[in-house]
Amino acid sequence: MEIKNKVAVVTGAGSGIGLAVSRHLARLGVSKLGMVDIDQNVNDAANTINDELGTDIAISFTGDTTDGKFRKDVYDTLCSDNKLVNICVPCAGITRDALAVKINKETSNAEIYPEEEFKLVMDVNLIAPVYWAIEMVARHAELRAKQGLKKWSPDEHVQGTIIFIGSVSSQGNKGQISYASTKAGLEGAAATLTKEAIFHGVRCGVIHPGFTDTPMVRALGDDYINKHILQYTQLGRLIRPDEIAEAICFMIANSAVSGNLWADAGWHPAAS
Ligand SMILES: NC(=O)c1ccc[n+]([C@@H]2O[C@H](COP(=O)([O-])OP(=O)(O)OC[C@H]3O[C@@H](n4cnc5c(N)ncnc54)[C@H](O)[C@@H]3O)[C@@H](O)[C@H]2O)c1
Repeated sequence: MEIKNKVAVVTGAGSGIGLAVSRHLARLGVSKLGMVDIDQNVNDAANTINDELGTDIAISFTGDTTDGKFRKDVYDTLCSDNKLVNICVPCAGITRDALAVKINKETSNAEIYPEEEFKLVMDVNLIAPVYWAIEMVARHAELRAKQGLKKWSPDEHVQGTIIFIGSVSSQGNKGQISYASTKAGLEGAAATLTKEAIFHGVRCGVIHPGFTDTPMVRALGDDYINKHILQYTQLGRLIRPDEIAEAICFMIANSAVSGNLWADAGWHPAAS
C-alpha cells in the first residue's frame, strides 16, 4: 500500500517508537497525520515535524487512548473532509512490572500482582489499540456499505493497514505478567482482524520490537539494561526507535507481508 497521500493515526506519538513512526510517515508523504498522546509534549512533537517538512500535515491530539469518546473525536477530525484514515499504528503503551507472586521475606506471605494494575495495563496496551484499529475498520466498512459495495476485491487496492506494537515479552518475560499478556493478546486480535477486516480492504500485522532505546526502557536504569538486556542481545545494544519505525513502514508499504515481524536484535533471554 502506497504511504504517500494516505491519512495516518499514531497513538503514543509524543515519545519513543510512536514519535519515530510519526516522523517516518510524515517524510514518506502522508497527507494527514494524527499524533495522539496523553502527554502535552505531543503538541511540540507535531510542530517540530511540520517545521522540519515545511507542512501542516501533523495534527496533535492530547488525550487518553482508553477514552472511547476521545477516540471517536480524533477520527471525526481526521475524517472531516470525507477522507478515511488508511494507516493506524496504535503505539501508546505502559508497563507495570512486578512478579506474579513474590514472597515477603519478613512475613513469608505471598504477595500477588495487583489486579487493578493488570486491568490498567490491559486497558491501555490491549483493549485501546484494538479499538483504535476497529474504529478505522468500521469507518471503511460503513462507507463501503453506503456506496453499495460488498466484499473488497484486490483490484480496488488495499484501503488500510493496521500495525500493532507487540513485544518480545509476548513470549514470556519474568516480572512482566500483565505487559506480556497484553502483547501476546494483540497477536490474537491481529489474527482475527486479519481475517475479518480484509472484507473491507484493511490489512493487519504485528511488529514485536526487542528492547528499544526509548524512555520506557531507559526507565529500567543502566544497571538493569547492562545486566539483563544487552548481554542477551546479539547486537549488544538497544534498538534505535528509527529502526523499528522503518520496519513498521515496510510492513505498511509491502502488502505481501502479513502476520508477525520480529525486530528483536537477536534477543534471546535466559530460560530461567
Ligand atoms: N521500548 C521498547 O523496548 C519496546 C519494546 C517492545 C514494544 N514496545 C512498545 O512500543 C510502544 C511504544 O513504547 P515506547 O518504548 O516508545 O514508550 P514511551 O514511553 O517512550 O512512549 C509511550 C507513549 O505512550 C503514551 N501513553 C501512555 N499511555 C497512554 C494513554 N493511555 N493514552 C495516550 N497516550 C499514552 C505516553 O505518554 C508516551 O508518550 C508501546 O506499546 C510499548 O509497549 C516498546
